[in-house]
Amino acid sequence: MDRISTGMELDGMIGGGYPRNRTMLLTGTTGSGKTIAGLHFINQGCLDGRKCAIIATEETPEDLINQAESIGLSLSKYYKKGILNIERVYDERAEYIKGVLAVELTDIDELQSNIIGLIDRIPEGTEIVLIDNIGVFTLNMSTNEFRAQFDALIHGLAKRNITAVIIMDSASDERTGGIAAYSVYGVIRTSMKDNPFTGARERLIEVLKIRNTKIPLDPIRFDVSSNGIVFLKK
Ligand SMILES: Nc1ncnc2c1ncn2[C@@H]1O[C@H](COP(=O)(O)OP(=O)(O)OP(=O)(O)O)[C@@H](O)[C@H]1O
Ligand SMILES: [Mg+2]
Repeated sequence: MDRISTGMELDGMIGGGYPRNRTMLLTGTTGSGKTIAGLHFINQGCLDGRKCAIIATEETPEDLINQAESIGLSLSKYYKKGILNIERVYDERAEYIKGVLAVELTDIDELQSNIIGLIDRIPEGTEIVLIDNIGVFTLNMSTNEFRAQFDALIHGLAKRNITAVIIMDSASDERTGGIAAYSVYGVIRTSMKDNPFTGARERLIEVLKIRNTKIPLDPIRFDVSSNGIVFLKK
């Protein structure tokens, strides 16, 4: 199976990278490092000369690029050259909600529940996609509807030969009964925990599953530095 680099040391632990033309789910609590892990993936895709896209539902492209630059990933040059497309879903949501609130409250649902529509926002020829964060679409959605739309999205991505990482915050994942994990090819979780021995707070990354792949069974400790995610020795 072909692999696409994660842009992190993780590659060596999961058989070379994320499986090509498949979708990975990246879940985790707030501030645990999801977006940064996603930015490594995108940066590597750009470095490797692949056309990349980010669907950003919680941040502006400018904020994402600034976040990337702060960890040494210079995405702005790819963005300017058009190798990297960043869809402004965040701005649109804000504008739309302002409009809707001025008229009628009920229409909010419509905007918040169009997961399938995201596929049309990915430019032709894109090979690498990051969606951050799909959780915002699930607020008013039943588990059934979410599963149907999510499956359709993943199917659509595969049909277009896209290798994707979809970020979903833990709260949304729990609200939808954790079913997103069943639709995707692999699941990775980031978290922060107190180490019972040292009392220090630690960042952990866990590979919960990747089909067709030998995975590390223990959580891996990591840090976020000015060079981004750095894996720590045991
Ligand atoms: N340049 C940097 N140097 C050191 N640490 C940083 C740097 N940039 C970000 N961080 C740390 O990385 C953490 C995780 O960031 P990230 O945005 O990836 O988390 P997240 O899981 O996406 O959170 P959210 O719930 O906000 O989406 C930040 O809270 C911050 O502590
Ligand atoms: Mg984030």
